[in-house]
Amino acid sequence: MTIAPQTTTAPELSVIVPTFNESENVPVLVERLRVALDGINWEMIVVDDDSPDGTAAVTRQIGLTDTRIRCIRRVGRRGLAGACLEGMLASQARFAAVIDADLQHDEKLLVPMLAKLREGATDIVIGTRYAAGGSTGDFSSHRKWISVTATRVANLVTGHPLSDPLSGFFMLRREVVDPIAAELSTHGFKILLDIVSTGGPSLRIAELPYTFGLRLQGASKLDTRVAFDYAGLLLAKATGGFLSLRFIFFCLVGISGIGVHFAVLWIGWRLFGLHFGWAQALAIAVAVATNFNLNNRITYRDQRLTGVHYVTGLLLFYVISSVGAISNLSVGTWLFGHEQTWWLAGIGGAMMSVVWNYAVSSLMVWRR
Ligand code: GDD
Ligand code: MN
Repeated sequence: MTIAPQTTTAPELSVIVPTFNESENVPVLVERLRVALDGINWEMIVVDDDSPDGTAAVTRQIGLTDTRIRCIRRVGRRGLAGACLEGMLASQARFAAVIDADLQHDEKLLVPMLAKLREGATDIVIGTRYAAGGSTGDFSSHRKWISVTATRVANLVTGHPLSDPLSGFFMLRREVVDPIAAELSTHGFKILLDIVSTGGPSLRIAELPYTFGLRLQGASKLDTRVAFDYAGLLLAKATGGFLSLRFIFFCLVGISGIGVHFAVLWIGWRLFGLHFGWAQALAIAVAVATNFNLNNRITYRDQRLTGVHYVTGLLLFYVISSVGAISNLSVGTWLFGHEQTWWLAGIGGAMMSVVWNYAVSSLMVWRR
C-alpha cells in the first residue's frame, strides 16, 4: 500500500514584511499577526536584505515551530520596493498584503482589508492615513508637509486620486502583480504608487483609514535618497519614461561646469597672465574634473566610485568628454552652416555632447 504524501493547500493570504534591521520587531509582529489573523489561513513572508542585526535568523528560528513564518534572505541587494515585489512574487496565496515590520501599521486592519477583497469588486485595498478616520499619529510638521506634498504630486501623475499613494500598507489580489512585475522599479519606497500607475485605470481601488503608529524599535530608513528616488519615479512617469532625474542632474552639473570653466579661464588669463591657450586648457581640465566629481557625488551617488576606481573613472571621463567636445564642435559648426543662428547652433552642439557624455559615461564609467 502506498502512503499518500501529506499535503496542505496554499494559504489564502500572504503577509509580506520587508525588513532591514528589524530583529527586535519581527517576533512582536508575529505575535500580533497570530492574534489578528486568527481563523484565517495566512502566512508571513519576511523579505530581508541581509540585515546585519540577524533579522533573517530570528525569522527562521520562529519558522522552525510555525511553518506559516518564512524568510527570503536577499544578499547584495537593497531596496524596499524590490523586497516587497519579491515577496509578492514568492506568494502562492490569492491575496497578498504588505506591512512594515516596525508595527507602525495597524495589523488589525488586515481583516477588513481581506473582507473587502473577498467581496470580489476590488483589486487593491490601501491603508490610508489621510482619509476621514485615519491619521499620521505624531508626525513632525516637517515630515507631514513632505508627505502631503508628495501625495499631491503623485496624484497628478498616476490618474488614480488616492489619499495616501505613499502608503506602505496595502493588500491586493496576488494576480494583479504578475503581468506588471517586470515593469516595476525595485528602488526606493514607492511600490504602491508604482503598481497603481503601472496597473492603469482598470484597477479597482479601495481605501481604509488607520492611524500611523510609532516605530517600536530601531530607526527609519526613509532619507533624502528615498525622496530623491521618488522624485525620479514621478518625473519618469510624467514624461512617459523620456526624462530621468539622473539625466537632469547630469545636465545641471554640465551647466555648472560652464561656470567653473569661465572662472578658471578668467583667473588664469587675467589674474595670472597665463597665455590664453594655456589658461583655456587649464579651464577645461578643471571643469571636467569638477563635473566628474559632482556627478560622482550627486548624479551617480548610488554607485559612487572610490579609490582606484575614482582615478580610472576620472581618466575615462576625460576621454569621453573630449570626444563629446569634438562632437559638440562638429554638430555646432554643421548647424551653423545650415541655420546661421548662432545660439541655435550652440545649443544643438551642447545637447549633442551632453547626450553623448551621459550615454557613454553611464555605460562605461558608472556602470552597475
Ligand atoms: N528588505 C528591505 N530592504 N526592507 C527595507 C528596506 C530595504 O532596503 N528599507 C526599509 N525596509 C523596511 C523596514 O525594515 C520596515 O519594515 C519597512 O521597510 C519600512 O521602513 P521604515 O524605515 O520604517 O520606513 P518609514 O516608517 O520611514 O516609512 C513608512 O512610511 C512611508 C510613507 O511615509 C513606510 O510605510 C513606507 O513604506 C512609506 O512609504
Ligand atoms: Mn517605519
